[in-house]
Amino acid sequence: MLAKDIIVPTTVTLSPNSTIREAIRILRKTRLGGIPVVDTDNRLIGVFSRSNLYDCLLNGVAIDDKLSGHFLMDVIYFKEDMEFSNISEINQWLRKVSIGQTPVVDFKERPIGFITRNFIVSFLLEYIEKHYKDNNAKDSSPKTKSANKARHEELYKVNGTKYTIDSIIGNSNVMEELKRLALKAAQTTSTVLISGACGTGKELFAQAIHNASKRWYQPFININCAAIPAELAESELFGYEGGAFTGASRHGKPGKFELADKSTIFLDEIGDMPLSLQSKLLRIIQEKEVMRVGGLHPKKIDVRIIAATNQDLETLIYEGKFRQDLYYRLKVISLNVPPLCRHYSDIPTLVDHFIREYSEANDKEITGVSSDAMRFLQSYNWPGNIRELGNVIERAVLFCKEKIIRLEDLGFNNSIESGVDICSLSGVEKETIFKTLKATNGNKSKTAKLLGISRSTLYKKLESMGKQNVF
Ligand SMILES: Nc1ncnc2c1ncn2[C@@H]1O[C@H](COP(=O)(O)OP(=O)(O)OP(=O)(O)O)[C@@H](O)[C@H]1O
Ligand SMILES: [Mg+2]
Repeated sequence: MLAKDIIVPTTVTLSPNSTIREAIRILRKTRLGGIPVVDTDNRLIGVFSRSNLYDCLLNGVAIDDKLSGHFLMDVIYFKEDMEFSNISEINQWLRKVSIGQTPVVDFKERPIGFITRNFIVSFLLEYIEKHYKDNNAKDSSPKTKSANKARHEELYKVNGTKYTIDSIIGNSNVMEELKRLALKAAQTTSTVLISGACGTGKELFAQAIHNASKRWYQPFININCAAIPAELAESELFGYEGGAFTGASRHGKPGKFELADKSTIFLDEIGDMPLSLQSKLLRIIQEKEVMRVGGLHPKKIDVRIIAATNQDLETLIYEGKFRQDLYYRLKVISLNVPPLCRHYSDIPTLVDHFIREYSEANDKEITGVSSDAMRFLQSYNWPGNIRELGNVIERAVLFCKEKIIRLEDLGFNNSIESGVDICSLSGVEKETIFKTLKATNGNKSKTAKLLGISRSTLYKKLESMGKQNVF
């Protein structure tokens, strides 16, 4: 979504030399909360808002006085080509803007319109109407799958999530029980602690709980506690007041907890949260209020917390790295997502699901896997769990030349074949990289993802082989 495509266009502007009288006339004619104020080159320099007018009238400013000194300068604005990935991103911006509308300017900084809260409200209403229509439709024809996909794409636009309870594949007893528990958790606002090894689906469950809750239309705020640098963590999470530290914005900034007010915050990898922040988090949970860095007054907030971890928090408590009181506060409802080796019976359904997904994405017509390939998939121990299974199927779909994935397409050949090929490690690496690049038609991002390395590592490896510009 580009900023220029979602604006309420405005052609009217004021200048610092315009009078309050002119401003009143224009404000009465438009339904906008404010009018752009421009300089002599028509560049945006501020906004004259309805509350500016209110202040002028209360303070006895004469009706023929100039606007200069009475309008908002330093307003947040968007360039016309600013791209938003979803509605909650726009909403987060608008929540920071007191007049509830953000000016949009063209490449010469001339105002072309506003993004308003009304836009968000009508977008949501349209979404809800569509969603209810879909739910009421009795049609259970094969269209349902693509309808589901479209629904997930829409959902992403609304709150930044991709998964609902329907996205969690698996009918084994343990998965059915977990889904039931997740839906129950969604009906409450209690804190949820999701534990499980890497790639088991913890984030899917967290998003599914948010989307099944009454808060679904609010943004799902996702924080990876292991990824925020320690020195930024406090201000990122709790926000800061204007001028709280050198380099801080003059107006201050809300933290992620404030942005998640009335919604859900997902604290991923909670085991990596530094101890100093753990005590602040405890305070938020107990007092239901947050204090910005440099702030004097705490602010009441209503945030639903879902935390996830692949570490054993009890061991971390024993080692003095995690607060025991926080642990008990977090695990009001706890969901233990099992490793894939504890629900092998879900593998055929998961394989079908991934084949469909990756065939569609890569324009291939793969219909299934051979019986020996399935036997292998059901006996391998899957240390990377469902994520690893998904990657193996994605690679197999790309390499597969027939409609059925065979054992050798799974990429485990060396460990399966009885004869061992002796070759150099770097040679194997080189060959694997080239094979994967070929299968992805030279797409380096996809190649890096399939090989489980970052793009920059892939570039370094290609460089060291003198093949930076292959494909
Ligand atoms: N039950 C499931 N059904 C379908 N896909 C799944 C399921 N569980 C996991 N996946 C797939 O595995 C990937 C990893 O899942 P997710 O990110 O939720 O794992 P995680 O437990 O949060 O892992 P990590 O600890 O590494 O963050 C997802 O992108 C999804 O493709
Ligand atoms: Mg995760």
